[in-house]
Amino acid sequence: MAKVSIVGAGAVGATAAQYITQRSLADVVLIDIIPDTARGKSLDLQQASALLGESATVCGTGDYALTADSDIIVITAGVPRKPGMSRDDLLKINAQIVKEASAKTIQGSPRAIYIVVTNPLDVMTFLCWQTTGLPTQRVIGMAGVLDSARFQTFIAEEMNVSSADVRAMVLGGHGDLMVPIPRYSTVNGIPVTELLPHDRVEALCARTRDGGAEIVGLLKSGSAYYAPGASVALMVQSILLDERRLLPCSVNPRGAYGLKDVCIGLPVILGRQGAEQVVSVKLKRVEKRALAESAKAVLGAIGQMKQLLS
Ligand code: NAI
Ligand code: 2OP
Repeated sequence: MAKVSIVGAGAVGATAAQYITQRSLADVVLIDIIPDTARGKSLDLQQASALLGESATVCGTGDYALTADSDIIVITAGVPRKPGMSRDDLLKINAQIVKEASAKTIQGSPRAIYIVVTNPLDVMTFLCWQTTGLPTQRVIGMAGVLDSARFQTFIAEEMNVSSADVRAMVLGGHGDLMVPIPRYSTVNGIPVTELLPHDRVEALCARTRDGGAEIVGLLKSGSAYYAPGASVALMVQSILLDERRLLPCSVNPRGAYGLKDVCIGLPVILGRQGAEQVVSVKLKRVEKRALAESAKAVLGAIGQMKQLLS
C-alpha cells in the first residue's frame, strides 16, 4: 500500500483522509500540532473503514518521524483569518507553518510528491517548492481542480444537465483573479459558449470566482472542505495510479505561458512523477492578459511573503 501523510488534521485534511482511505488508495498518516485532534479523527476514520470493509489504515500523530517514506505529502496545516488579523498577519503565520511542515517532512520523505492546500495557495506552493528544494514537478498546489469543480457544478445547474457530462477548466491563481476558461469548458464536448448566452456564462464565471466566499458566508465559521478534500483525493489517485489525468494545478511554469518565478494554476498531466507536463494550449489575447494579471498578483504576494519571513 502506498503512504500519504497529511499535515493538518483539520476539516480539509481529515476529509481528504476519508476519501483516500475509502478508495483504498493509500495508508494515511494524519499529523497535527494538536496531536489528539489527529488521533481522534484517525480513530474515527479507522472505525468507519471497518464498517466499509476497507483495508487502508489511518494513523494520527504529532510526530513527524511517522511520516517517513511517504509517497505523497499533503499540506493543509494553517490558521484561518480571525477578527483583527490582517492579510499580512495571516500570510506570515501560514508561511511559517508551511515552511516548517515542508522542512520537517522532506527529511524523512525526500522522494515524496507534495500537494499543497494551505492558503494563500499559490504563494504557499511556491514556498513549499523553495523549502523542499524538490524539482518543480514534485510540488503541486490544489486549487484548479476545486475551482473547476465549482464551475462544472454551476454549468450543470444552469443547464439542468448531469454534472458528469460537464468538464470545466479554471486557470490562474486561487483568488479573485482566477481565470475560468469557458471556451475550454464543455458539456460532453460542446463548449458552453455554444450553449449559453454570454451574460449567463459571465455570471457563472463570477460565481466560480466567489465560490469559496459563498460557502464561507453560508457556513458562518470555517470554509469548504468536502470538495477540497475530494479534490486532494482525485489528485492523489491520479498520481498513485499513474492515471495521467489532465487537471489544472498550481505549478511553477518555468517559462510556460511566458511565466516564471511563480506558482500558478495551469493545465498539467498528473502521473507517478507528479506534474509530468505543463500542457500549453492556445489562449486568446484577453485570456492571456487575465492569466498574466493573475500571475502578477501572485508574484506580488510572493515578494510580500519573502519580506515578512526575512
Ligand atoms: P482547519 O482550521 O480546519 O485545519 C487546519 C489544521 O491545521 C488544524 O487542525 C490546526 O491544528 C493545524 N495546524 C495549525 N498549525 C499547524 C502546524 N504548525 N503543524 C501542523 N498542523 C497545524 O482548516 P481547513 O478548513 O482544514 O483548511 C486548511 C487550509 O486549507 C486553510 O489555509 C484553508 O484556507 C485552505 N483551503 C484551501 C483550499 C484550496 O482550494 N487550496 C480549499 C479549502 C481550504
Ligand atoms: C475555498 O476556495 C477557502 O480557498 C478555500 O473554499
